[in-house]
Amino acid sequence: MKKVIMDCDPGHDDMVAIMLAIADEDIDLLGITTVAGNQTGDKTFRNALRILTLLNRKDIPVARGFDKPLVRELKTAPAFHGVSGLDGADLPEPEVTPLKKHAVDFITDTLMKSDGGIYLVPTGPLTNVAVALLKEPRIKEKIERIVLMGGGVFDSNTTPAAEFNFYVDPEAAKIVFESGVPITMVGLDVTDKAIFSFEDIDRLGGFGGKVSSVVAPLLRFFGNANKEIYGFDGAPLHDALALSVLINPNVVKTRFLHVDIETKGEFTRGESVADVYGITGKAPNAEVAMDLDLPLFKEIVFSHIRKLDESMAD
Ligand code: RIB
Ligand code: CA
Repeated sequence: MKKVIMDCDPGHDDMVAIMLAIADEDIDLLGITTVAGNQTGDKTFRNALRILTLLNRKDIPVARGFDKPLVRELKTAPAFHGVSGLDGADLPEPEVTPLKKHAVDFITDTLMKSDGGIYLVPTGPLTNVAVALLKEPRIKEKIERIVLMGGGVFDSNTTPAAEFNFYVDPEAAKIVFESGVPITMVGLDVTDKAIFSFEDIDRLGGFGGKVSSVVAPLLRFFGNANKEIYGFDGAPLHDALALSVLINPNVVKTRFLHVDIETKGEFTRGESVADVYGITGKAPNAEVAMDLDLPLFKEIVFSHIRKLDESMAD
C-alpha cells in the first residue's frame, strides 16, 4: 500500500488524478492539499471539495494552501479549465468539511507524525511543497519520493521555454529540485502524448455510471479547449499520468538527469533545464519521464473510472 499526499490545482486533469488515487486499491490517499494555479485558490479548493463530494469520500482530509506563488503574481488558465476551474459539467456543491489548518501544516504534520515512506504527488504549482520543505526540512527523511507533474525537457506550453506549473512558481520549483528529495518529473514530453481522444471520451461516456457520466463531459470541455489552442485530438491528462506512475511504474520510461529550474531568464522563466548529455557534470537529481505506454495509461484510466462507477452504483 502506497501512502500518498496529493497537492493540486483542480483542474480537469487534476480531477482525474484524484480519481485514480481514490480508485486504486494499492493507494492510501492520506489527504489532498490545494494551491492556486489553474484557477484562483478559492476555486481550486472548492473544486477539490466538489470532487470528493461527487465520489462520496467525505473522509479524505482537504487543506487549502497558497493563493499566490512565492514571488510572482498568479497566472491562471481559464482558457483550458473555465471560470470555475472545472467547467463542462455540473459537479455537486461541496458537502465536505475541510481542515482548518493550512496545506503546508497538513503536509508537515502528516509527514512528521508518520514512520516515513510517504509519496508526495504535486500536480500544480509547487508553492505549498516548497514552503513545507523550508518550514520543516526534517520532512525530507519522511518522503519516499516526489512524483510531480511539471516541466518538460523538449516541450513547453505556457511560453516557448516553460510548462505552466513551473512557470507560475519557478522559485518554488527550484527549491523542490534542489531539496535532495528523490523526484520523478512527469513533464510535457510525455503528458502532451497522454491524450484521451474524443473517441476515448465517448467510450467513457458510454459507461453510463454516476462518475463516468460527469467525467466525460468535463473531459470533452477540456479536450475542446486543447484542440482549439494546441490542435490536440482530445484531453491531455497531464496530472493523471503523473499519478498513474504510482499505480504502474511501467507507464513511463525515465532517465536519471540533472534538472535546473530557470528563475532569472527574461524569456526562459520556469524552464526545466535538463542536462540530457551530462554536459554540466552535475549529479542527476530527477528521474525524468521521456516516453510513455499510452495503451497502458488509457487502460488504467478506463479501469479506475469503471471501479468508481461500480462503487457508486445503487
Ligand atoms: O502544464 C500542465 C499542468 O498545468 C497540469 O498540471 C494542469 O493541471 C495545469 O496545472
Ligand atoms: Ca494541475
